[in-house]
Amino acid sequence: MPAKLSMQGLYKVFGPAPEEAVELARGGSDKDEIYRRTGSVVAVNNVNLEVAAREIFVVMGLSGSGKSTLVRCINRLIEPTSGQLLIDGQDVLQADEEGLRQLRLNKVSMVFQHFALFPHRTVAENAAYGLKVRGVGAAERRAKAVEALEAVGLGAWADALPANLSGGMQQRVGLARALAVDPEILLMDEPFSALDPLIRRDMQNELLALQERYAATIVFITHDLHEALTLGSRIAIMRDGAFMQVGPPEEIVGAPADDYVANFTKEVDRSRVITLGRIARRDRPLLAPSEEAAAASRKLQDAEVQGLLVADSNGKPLGSVSATALLGADPAAKVEDIMERPALTGERDTPLAAVLEAGALGAPVALLDNQGRIDASVDPGDLLSALAAARAEDQNLRVGGTA
Ligand SMILES: Nc1ncnc2c1ncn2[C@@H]1O[C@H](COP(=O)(O)OP(=O)(O)O)[C@@H](O)[C@H]1O
Ligand SMILES: [Mg+2]
Repeated sequence: MPAKLSMQGLYKVFGPAPEEAVELARGGSDKDEIYRRTGSVVAVNNVNLEVAAREIFVVMGLSGSGKSTLVRCINRLIEPTSGQLLIDGQDVLQADEEGLRQLRLNKVSMVFQHFALFPHRTVAENAAYGLKVRGVGAAERRAKAVEALEAVGLGAWADALPANLSGGMQQRVGLARALAVDPEILLMDEPFSALDPLIRRDMQNELLALQERYAATIVFITHDLHEALTLGSRIAIMRDGAFMQVGPPEEIVGAPADDYVANFTKEVDRSRVITLGRIARRDRPLLAPSEEAAAASRKLQDAEVQGLLVADSNGKPLGSVSATALLGADPAAKVEDIMERPALTGERDTPLAAVLEAGALGAPVALLDNQGRIDASVDPGDLLSALAAARAEDQNLRVGGTA
């Protein structure tokens, strides 16, 4: 499937010498050096990006890293200096004024951190603003605006004035305004940053529901890691205009590409983000119910694990046998007589924390394929070493205090 949105080698330079600055950036000079030599700021530096339809792609980075500039390049509120930008395979940078107008009217909507609501117009009129600009008639405008307001939980406030709404509610009006036009792509530049944490959490959950309902592709900017992890199907970490790492949340947290990325992720409780799928292994032997304890012991020692799964002849899980159970067993006993039933099972995206909280530290966890057969497994030892590694990394970061 072709990408909904893609960028290749995108640059944006502010200042007197854009071409020279791009040349220097291509040659490997960094932002500071380029500024010193040319007086120009490389705000977006060689960004490559593919966003699939209905994906929530999160861009995260410190203030000044280029997030706003990048997202404004997508609808050409800011004109990129060089590179390629495609939406639905169409070259956006070649679009003429009419093409650009159509793009902004029909495909791309934007939500900012601070909405300027018209103080003397009702909430519904504010939500209908984008429709009015599009020339939609009054009755349809009202209907669509009210529908969008209902979607964001403000149906009862349609005829109120903005001054009667709290900051969080006003922010919802802004979201309703963007949704009312049923955009294919929603660009959101720190839309929840000004909200207090509880309301912010609500809005994040609502956005996930709204995204399903409106089937939009979303590019979401934030400098908050928890927000990024909650919302993102993939997260890009941006620094000095460049993407340092792009990946799904568990990869950003579990395998940060460098100290900059790791620093972003260090405060996260990794056990909530590292998933079973990430540490599961396919090379562990399975036991048959008819095997003897002595043979099972040998397999367990060879595999250097704390337990093994027992499977039927189709590979479906029956139970598990732990090292402790084998120690106390008659060597001639059958596995089926000493195993614990049933086997623990988990999903690839089950966080380690869920396994720990279930108190399931003594037995291996089976990951099943869609036929219900054992596809991979996580030994208690795998789990502990993953947690220990994460903790060691946290310690290093704290001690090292990397910038
Ligand atoms: N209009 C502008 N003129 C000059 N420099 C700018 C302009 N807009 C942004 N910049 C610079 O570009 C860089 C990226 O800024 P911005 O995209 O606003 O970052 P972020 O949204 O991540 O905080 C910063 O160094 C900023 O100072
Ligand atoms: Mg910004």
